[in-house]
Amino acid sequence: MEVTVIGCGYVGLVTATCLASIGHTVRGVENDPRKLRLLQECHCPIFEPGLQELMSEQCGSGQLRFTSDIKSSLEDAQVIFLAVGTPPRPDGMVEMCYLDAAAKELADALGGRTADGSLTIIVKSTVPPGTSRRLNEVFRQRTQSELHVVDNPEFLREGSAVKDFLEPDRIIIGGDNPEAFRIMRRLYDPIIKREENFLAMNWESAELTKYAANTMLAARISFMNEMSILCDSYGADIEDIRKGIGTDFRIGPWFLRAGCGYGGSCFPKDVAALEHISRSVAHESLFVQAIQTINRNQKRRFYDKLVAKLGRPIEGAQIAVWGLAFKADTDDIRESPAIDIIGYLLSAGAHVRATDPKAMDNMKQVFHDSIQWVVDPVSAAVGADAVALLTDWPQYSTLPFRKIAATMNRPIIVDGRNCLHRDIMRENGFQYYPLGRPAVESKVRVRSKT
Ligand SMILES: NC(=O)c1ccc[n+]([C@@H]2O[C@H](COP(=O)([O-])OP(=O)(O)OC[C@H]3O[C@@H](n4cnc5c(N)ncnc54)[C@H](O)[C@@H]3O)[C@@H](O)[C@H]2O)c1
Repeated sequence: MEVTVIGCGYVGLVTATCLASIGHTVRGVENDPRKLRLLQECHCPIFEPGLQELMSEQCGSGQLRFTSDIKSSLEDAQVIFLAVGTPPRPDGMVEMCYLDAAAKELADALGGRTADGSLTIIVKSTVPPGTSRRLNEVFRQRTQSELHVVDNPEFLREGSAVKDFLEPDRIIIGGDNPEAFRIMRRLYDPIIKREENFLAMNWESAELTKYAANTMLAARISFMNEMSILCDSYGADIEDIRKGIGTDFRIGPWFLRAGCGYGGSCFPKDVAALEHISRSVAHESLFVQAIQTINRNQKRRFYDKLVAKLGRPIEGAQIAVWGLAFKADTDDIRESPAIDIIGYLLSAGAHVRATDPKAMDNMKQVFHDSIQWVVDPVSAAVGADAVALLTDWPQYSTLPFRKIAATMNRPIIVDGRNCLHRDIMRENGFQYYPLGRPAVESKVRVRSKT
């Protein structure tokens, strides 16, 4: 099919590339000139495993092209994705200006077109209930084409986005038109493994499903973070509890890891949005508020633990930060707990030396030269009074810990992701503080500063 994707960020670019890889002809529309230049030169502007390779193949074969000109991208289009950002406003409400602007540009570009009735506009962005129904009305009034709007929320995870898109658990389509459902079924045919995984429903159900999924996942994390407080107080181990409840098939093992808080471009904004969505129908969602409060507190709790275990005043302390991305395998720092935690450290007068395999350039836009940037965790730790581990990059668990301990001022690690091995920490002489797990404590060796 002929596909246009408007907005080539994380979701739009993965959607465009993956749809090209399953045989569709795809035109990506991007209005950020810097990104567009990279895309047109076939350079992937984000770090996402496997995406650059797939993009190169599809650009090379001509299945995938990029432009800033909506009108030209629509010439033969049968389906058009809207995949622009819907970021949070400061009060948590969903900022709809990018989607509304893109929809207006699209309606203007479609203005004169008289289509054969098979034009489908797909809202891929995460939007509050009622949005797709409203857009359906707007497009019908503003264009002469006979077209249908469907909502098609995206469930990919950054870090495994290509695989998630090509092997989805389910595909959800919200709409009211059987022909539009049939077109969507055809579009996704090569990746639908089982018929029951293609779920058609009304617009509002599809839109709310996305918020429900992310809020449920965030709730699981916040619940485990809440339990980790009890573990610290009662001497229990949150990892044992995770296994103990995760093996119950009614609960399952996913999203049960305690840590220094969830982040990313989706959970914080979608949970905050659900609070507003509830409020706009006069429902005060205490549940959703609690998820957010626990997450906020957890970042502070990590910082308080670090301060408590430091053995010296935080003011003037040298802290190495390992990991800036909101999770491993991405360069995305949006709402990363590292932003808040580094902020607390700097406000208290600590000196921060930070590193991340992929996210440093992005984080430099936030902290500029108020912190020191180093390329690897070993150099970050030299002379440090403590390490704050904030992202679960797998390579952090196999570092040369003996060498690191020898170069630190105090061999202290506070593990905000519970991802290091306690035995290795003990063997290498660290004071090791995970969250909700028993600490490894031995006599602290303080190197005298010369
Ligand atoms: N990032 C994720 O993991 C993820 C997962 C599922 C759903 N979502 C949802 O998908 C949507 C997009 O998220 P994202 O992370 O890809 O955002 P993003 O900010 O990375 O990408 C949006 C892109 O759209 C471009 N854009 C904006 N207006 C445009 C216009 N009028 N014409 C052409 N291009 C335009 C921007 O320049 C940007 O490149 C959001 O609603 C988000 O909530 C994101």
